[in-house]
Amino acid sequence: MSTLFFYTKEQFFNFKTTQTAVGFEFLSMSKLLSSQKIDGLDEYRQYYVDISSLVGFVKSNDSQLLNFEQLFGGFGDNITFICDKAYETDIKYIFRYVFDDFCDVEAERDETPIESGEKSDVKPNSVKKITDLDDQELEIFFENFDARLYGHERFKEEFKGLVNSFRVFNKLGEHKILSLFLMGDSGVGKTEVARSIHKALGSKSKLAKINFGNYSSHDALNSLIGSPLGYIGSDGGELLKRVHESDVGLILIDEFEKADNAVFNYFLDVLENGKIVNSQAEEYDVSGYIIVFTSNITKDNFKSKISPELRSRFDYKGMFNLLTDEDKKKFVHFRVNQIISKYEEFVSSDIPDKLHDNVVAEIDVSQYKNMRDLNKKIKDTFVALITP
Ligand SMILES: Nc1ncnc2c1ncn2[C@@H]1O[C@H](COP(=O)(O)OP(=O)(O)OP(=O)(O)O)[C@@H](O)[C@H]1O
Ligand SMILES: [Mg+2]
Repeated sequence: MSTLFFYTKEQFFNFKTTQTAVGFEFLSMSKLLSSQKIDGLDEYRQYYVDISSLVGFVKSNDSQLLNFEQLFGGFGDNITFICDKAYETDIKYIFRYVFDDFCDVEAERDETPIESGEKSDVKPNSVKKITDLDDQELEIFFENFDARLYGHERFKEEFKGLVNSFRVFNKLGEHKILSLFLMGDSGVGKTEVARSIHKALGSKSKLAKINFGNYSSHDALNSLIGSPLGYIGSDGGELLKRVHESDVGLILIDEFEKADNAVFNYFLDVLENGKIVNSQAEEYDVSGYIIVFTSNITKDNFKSKISPELRSRFDYKGMFNLLTDEDKKKFVHFRVNQIISKYEEFVSSDIPDKLHDNVVAEIDVSQYKNMRDLNKKIKDTFVALITP
């Protein structure tokens, strides 16, 4: 038994766009049935199957109900069923023994075009923070997050606990910012954590990211928050600029170990007060934000490099280990599917038979530690097999 989600006409395209971006594929039930695609569904992919078209069919062919009730039992839990809300009453009754729960999807309404002549000087979209989500939105957030980030199961569990506690204590004014400090080898998904949060919060803007690898260390603080007032060329700094450009409550600080003490102390303040202040004394409230810090330092260096005050401020400090071969395989399946779909959409639908299986068969995941290298291997193999 499972849940059926309703969408409205006004939400559909927005919903589809955001969900496709995080890896879901949309199929209609009629298409599935007519092309006998059911057996071809990939257990490693997440699908939305739209059952709106069944309403009219079952209503006029009562005798088919038995077949459909049985059919639903055969789908795996990588399938989520959706339906146009216009059919809500009928479908709730027809499939009363199939679904045990009915909910509405969480998606903004599609944008209505601004009428010509109307000035669009409205404030840019308000910022979406993890603390703003309602329970159902939060559930969808975690589903999306988990689907994007492979492996790291322990981290995912702890992250859920941290978010739940943060949402409560942020409202009580006791926990301004949720901070994650991720260490570990290259290419195992540290930065991907931030990208996944960004997408799962439904962002349509750029990720607010600062990379200390790009700063020369002695003026890192000036680059970050602007040089002191009165200095020629002083500006507000990169941090506030990036945060203003983003529509979600998330900041990524990459290669944090390359910053210097002045920067460390600055972040001590930010985490404590939930405010970003720049050299021009402009202030921005970041309470409710998640800040992800990533670093390649080892556990020992972490202790010598980062002061105990700052260390104790991080809500999560953890090493990211290599993915298991099983998780790497899931990643390969996902990427190959993604590449094939894009190729079919943008280049040609004429692809060799069994392309997916052949690409997968050529890749020995145990040879790869860094997922960037694995990704490159996937691309190379794909190209080799698609070129005659
Ligand atoms: N656990 C994962 N789940 C999904 N994709 C991943 C994962 N790990 C790595 N990747 C993929 O590999 C690429 C590199 O990962 P990422 O950028 O997170 O590395 P990193 O751990 O931040 O490494 P570095 O220390 O070199 O910055 C990403 O673009 C992503 O596509
Ligand atoms: Mg990184």
